[in-house]
This record gives sequence, structure tokens and C-alpha cells, in this order.
Amino acid sequence: MKRKTIKPACPEYPMQEKSPAKDGTAGRSIAVMTGGGDCPGLNAVIRAVTKTAITKFGLEVWGIQDGYLGLIEDRMDVLTYDDVSNILTVGGTILGSSNVANPFKYPVTVGKSFDPAQDGQRQFRDVSDKCIEVLNSHGIDALICIGGDGTMASAAEFAKKGVNVIGLPKTIDNDLYGTDITFGFNTAVTTATEAIDKIHTTASSHHRVMIVEVMGRYAGWIALHAGVASGSDCLLLPEIPYRLDKICNFVLSRSKRGRRFSIIVAAEGAKEKGGEMVVAKKLPFSPDPIRLGGVASVLAAKINERTGLDCREVVLGHIQRGGTPTPFDRVLATNFGYAAIELLMKGVKGHLVVLKNGKLSSIPLSKVAGRIRTVPKSHYLIKAAQAVGTSFGV
Ligand code: F6P
Repeated sequence: MKRKTIKPACPEYPMQEKSPAKDGTAGRSIAVMTGGGDCPGLNAVIRAVTKTAITKFGLEVWGIQDGYLGLIEDRMDVLTYDDVSNILTVGGTILGSSNVANPFKYPVTVGKSFDPAQDGQRQFRDVSDKCIEVLNSHGIDALICIGGDGTMASAAEFAKKGVNVIGLPKTIDNDLYGTDITFGFNTAVTTATEAIDKIHTTASSHHRVMIVEVMGRYAGWIALHAGVASGSDCLLLPEIPYRLDKICNFVLSRSKRGRRFSIIVAAEGAKEKGGEMVVAKKLPFSPDPIRLGGVASVLAAKINERTGLDCREVVLGHIQRGGTPTPFDRVLATNFGYAAIELLMKGVKGHLVVLKNGKLSSIPLSKVAGRIRTVPKSHYLIKAAQAVGTSFGV
């Protein structure tokens, strides 16, 4: 393995100054990983982190495979400048990701064989010390964790244990606490909007009520933004529990006025007032076991039954996580990746890079852990949508 030569120490960057020469030849090493559900822009961030670290600071960069799983299992390789060239526009992550490996609550099989039928024999273990040993064994001084709330919760725990961690905010859901925007969100909204635009024409031809289910977990950011951008008629967000009678009256009144089709955008976490979110499945050994899904199908059946209107559901699903990032996300990802290395080299530890009020800054990971950012009911865009006649089913 070829190590890069470190640049001369610079007072502006204390981390570089106190760089230990571990084997007499080396500068500092960092590792980068992508955790949780993937999203467009991950590769753009990996590229920005790696190129900044190599070209500006002469660091060695390791790429950890499959998020925390690769750290637990010691699967990582040195990333070269060329390894991260030509990936800016590519969706997914060259490192792979995992949303089932929490180093502080890692499911292990206690029995002899791994058999889902023997779930009782699986237990959670804290394998974080092993992860730290793995980092030390490679001489890695700092960890860049790219992820959402689950990844940041573990990153905050690692920071408490003295690991030099910087977090970068990723998720199509846009629900990470502390930042106004996460990369991946803009692309997901663009994808959802384009899909809804297409659904509009077929809804119109067949005079149907189309219910489009979008992702977002417990936050309605994608539904709100894609719904407004596509001029959809009714938006259902987890933050504003809907009333079925209101939705039915709304689509019927549109029909009576000669608007013989309606588009309803339902966040996967949308729920009826007094009701529960629709759960597609539970993954008991995942750090976040609930997988939402199915609300569009439930609504299509109920609206059809009550109004007699022809209803169809469309679930956009993982399409929202795929494809090439938008220019906005490429720029955001590049800024985030660069900011992470700048912070690290300035000696900042245990922080998440954020965009707040249009400015790049950072906040302690301890403030982010265990929280999510949902849509405030008083959000300006909700008011704007209502002003142009959009219903929220209430
Ligand atoms: O957090 C991103 C996300 O796509 C959510 O919007 C969705 O609820 C969840 O991940 C789906 O997870 P999985 O990929 O495990 O099905």
C-alpha cells in the first residue's frame, strides 16, 4: 500500500500539525463510509472528501465498504484520486451501504447456525470497541460518516468514545435534525415531481383519482415539495393527520366542478386523524425496524368505496433513491465534502456539517442524535400551497 506524503504543517490546520508519523513514512489517514439507505449524491460527497483530503492536505483516505458493517468486519481499502474520478454524476455509492448494522446494537447469532427460524438465538451486542481496534490497526485517525439519523446516532456514540468523527448529512427524507437540507432530497423531489407530472396526464384521460405514495418516513418533506412542484390537488403529510371525509368531499367537489380527475400525493407516513401509519413490514433486527408503506392502496380502496370515483394507487418507492443527482445535489455534496475535511483539519471533532440559513456550518453530533426534523405545521410552503387551493385533507 502506497502512502501519500503530508504537506508541511500549517497553523490554520492543527490536525495536520500534530500529525504523527506512525511508521516513519506516513501522514495522517482518514476513513470514509456511507451508512443507511442510499441516495443520489453519495458518490459526489465521497469524491469531494477524498479529493480534498488528498490534494489539499496530502492525507491517506480509506473507503470502508457497506457502512458500519464494513467497519465491524474490517472491510476497507485505500481510495486513490483516480478511484473517485468520474463518479460525480453517478447515483448510489461506490462504497456500498447498509442500514442494518449498528455497532452499538449489532445482532449476532448465538446458536451454531444462522437460521431466521431461530430468531430467539440472536442477540444484540456492542461491537464498537472492535470497530475502534479496526480503525487503529489501519492507523486511521479520523472517520467521516456520511448518513442519516441512524448513522449519526452511532457517530455520536463513537465521538463520546474519543473517535475523531465528522458527520455529513444524507437522506432523501430531508429529516436530519440540525440542517435545513440534506443531499439527496432535491433529486428525490425532482424524480417524484417528474413521475407525478406523468401521472397527471393519464389521470386526466381516464378521469381518475390517482394516489401517489412517496417516501419520507415520518416526515412529509418529499410529499410537500413534490406535491407543490407538480401542482397536485391534495397532499397528505404525517405531520397533518387527514380526515377521509374531507378528502372525499374535496375530490367530489372537483369532479362536480368539471375537474374530473384528482392527484393525491400521500407521504408513506400519512395517517388518518386518530389512526396509525400503515406499516409494510417489520425487520426486528434492523436498528430502525419499521418499514412504512401501503397508505396509497388503503386510500384508493376507501375513496373509491365512499365516492364511487375510479381510483388507482402508484407507489414510487426506491425509484426516488436512484439515478443521477441533480446539479443542486452535486453542488451541495461537493460543498459538504470539502467542508468536512476543512473542519477535521481545523481540529473540530464530533460535529455534523450542516447548511443553516444558506450558510455552511456545523453542530455537535450529540445534539443531532435521537432527533428528526419534521415539517412544521406552520411551514411557509403549506400556507402557500393552501393559498393556491391545495388541500391537506383537513
Ligand atoms: O430513509 C430513506 C428511506 O428511503 C425512507 O424514505 C424509507 O422509508 C426507507 O428508507 C426504506 O428503507 P429500505 O430501503 O430498507 O426499504
